Amino acid sequence: MYRILVMNGPNLNMLGVREPGVYGSERLSDIEDKLKELAAQSGLELSFFQSNHEGELIDRIHAAYGNTDGILLNPGALTHYSYALRDALTSVSLPVVEVHLSNIHAREAFRHTSVIAPIAVGQISGFGAYGYEMGLLALKRHLDRLV
Ligand code: DQA
Repeated sequence: MYRILVMNGPNLNMLGVREPGVYGSERLSDIEDKLKELAAQSGLELSFFQSNHEGELIDRIHAAYGNTDGILLNPGALTHYSYALRDALTSVSLPVVEVHLSNIHAREAFRHTSVIAPIAVGQISGFGAYGYEMGLLALKRHLDRLV
């Protein structure tokens, strides 16, 4: 059974309230509930963590070392500039799938760059909350060495 850490960065606790036209009307707890269902069907063990603080996210990534098989991550705006978050991910050498609700490549220019993408297994962007389900399945297939 793979142990997956589902991490969300700044402002993702505001899903449902925050710009629903961009991010949808589902709350983070709704997304997490769906992932729990999917995990039960797929034989995955999930842990969830959201923080608005870069250092807390980094500490949680370090804490995953030795007890986690992969990370499903929506880094929020940290995607675009946090070398510290990226370095934390490479420090623990865990496979990461990057998820965004919105299509970051179709938005403002500053969102087109992800400093996480080059060290991720892959990036899913633009499929709303469903992207987390896709990401979880993709991470499982990666761990199964199927993709
Ligand atoms: C986001 C996209 C980021 O640009 C933004 O800062 C977010 C959410 C997304 O899920 O679409 O906080 O990661």
